[in-house]
Amino acid sequence: MRKDRLLTDVLIVGSGGREHAIGWKLSQSKKIGKIFFAPGNGGTINNVEIPVEDIDGLAEFASEKNCLTIVGPEIPLSLGIVDAFTEKGLRIFGPTKAAAQIESSKVWAKNFMKRNNILTAQFEIFDDAKEAKEYAKSIDYSLVVKADGLAAGKGVIVCNNSAEAIDAIDEILTKNRFGSSGSKIILEERIDGEEASFIALSDGNIAIPMATSQDHKRIYDGDKGPNTGGMGAYSPTAIIDDSLAEMIQKDVIEKTINSMKKEGNPFKGFLYAGIMLKYGKPYVLEFNGRMGDPECQPIMMRLDSDLYDYINASIDGTLSKLPAMLWKKQTAICVVLASKGYPGVYQKNEEIFGLDLEDKHSFVFHAGTKRENGKILTYGGRVLGVTALGDTLDSAISNVYSRIEKISWQNKYFRKDIGKKGLLVL
Ligand SMILES: Nc1ncnc2c1ncn2[C@@H]1O[C@H](COP(=O)(O)OP(=O)(O)O)[C@@H](O)[C@H]1O
Ligand SMILES: [Mg+2]
Repeated sequence: MRKDRLLTDVLIVGSGGREHAIGWKLSQSKKIGKIFFAPGNGGTINNVEIPVEDIDGLAEFASEKNCLTIVGPEIPLSLGIVDAFTEKGLRIFGPTKAAAQIESSKVWAKNFMKRNNILTAQFEIFDDAKEAKEYAKSIDYSLVVKADGLAAGKGVIVCNNSAEAIDAIDEILTKNRFGSSGSKIILEERIDGEEASFIALSDGNIAIPMATSQDHKRIYDGDKGPNTGGMGAYSPTAIIDDSLAEMIQKDVIEKTINSMKKEGNPFKGFLYAGIMLKYGKPYVLEFNGRMGDPECQPIMMRLDSDLYDYINASIDGTLSKLPAMLWKKQTAICVVLASKGYPGVYQKNEEIFGLDLEDKHSFVFHAGTKRENGKILTYGGRVLGVTALGDTLDSAISNVYSRIEKISWQNKYFRKDIGKKGLLVL
């Protein structure tokens, strides 16, 4: 028998920095053979031209190559990729369509949290603009207006007063800015605190925590300007100390996994809780049924265990047999290099220079890039996720920014303050 017969080939669905980082980590496993990406990006190899929404096409490919499939983004999960693959007898990692509702319907998630006593901001649900506006006028605290369905990170409007809330209600319910994703809205209490991400891996029965992290959602330094998909992240974050991590694991993650199971809807995969900390209490802003991007990049860089073992155990429901994951003591930080203009309009197809320099502290994960005639070109808003390790947060910051200095293209933009708020806590 050929030795490589013992190895597992993998199909990673997605094209972002998160998928590149998962592939990079899996490629270090001695049990993994070939890794395919659908559709992948300019930094990934073995790219297959199948869009993430084409569930039948992906299933055909996975079946032909007999590979394990790992799903990065939320769209295919919400379309039921896990159900479709499982019906065909294909091995796949991630939540079912019903379990993925925890992310794909914010209304579902809020009702789930309410009935299971998981701490979250007070809220009301509306499908009628007039009633929603009356409610917005009647309350005396600031509101956040949220479209129910998936909206690529643009469906949440944090308001300062009732006039802004009324505009937001009109945008979503009257002008249908998010189509059917906005046929229902949530009006919830605005909670002003410190935001952090807490990600765990579940097999439907138990969940084990991943390393903590903190994202930087706004486009400009000092958390100013519009929200983006994420401009940088670091891990671990001092904002979540050991006792708070224990509290979140118990009161949010375990409660969620147990309640999903009890309700006949077990959750397998990465469970991501977006947390707002206020007066030491973790309020859940939302759940995602997948890894965060860019949080995934520093988390993968710190992971010392074989990710493949944990993914297998999640699929098989055998996580309780595995030890806790091992993490590098170092800090990892990812700074997103974007195209100037993002999250609005930006140029594409600009050549990127300085990618091939060797550097033992860092790795450059690709996101919105493509490879053409041996060149790497920009091809999206978030272009690269430069990620570096350091013995302290301070040294990780200086390692990542010195690597960034060597990378150039015409309209490069990045935040200069990623990780700095972590220094204030230390
Ligand atoms: N109740 C809230 N109070 C204050 N800020 C909030 C609240 N809910 C959401 N936000 C802010 O809006 C951002 C996006 O909201 P979130 O619920 O995570 O939706 P999505 O990631 O789908 O856009 C959050 O990261 C947070 O900064
Ligand atoms: Mg979010």
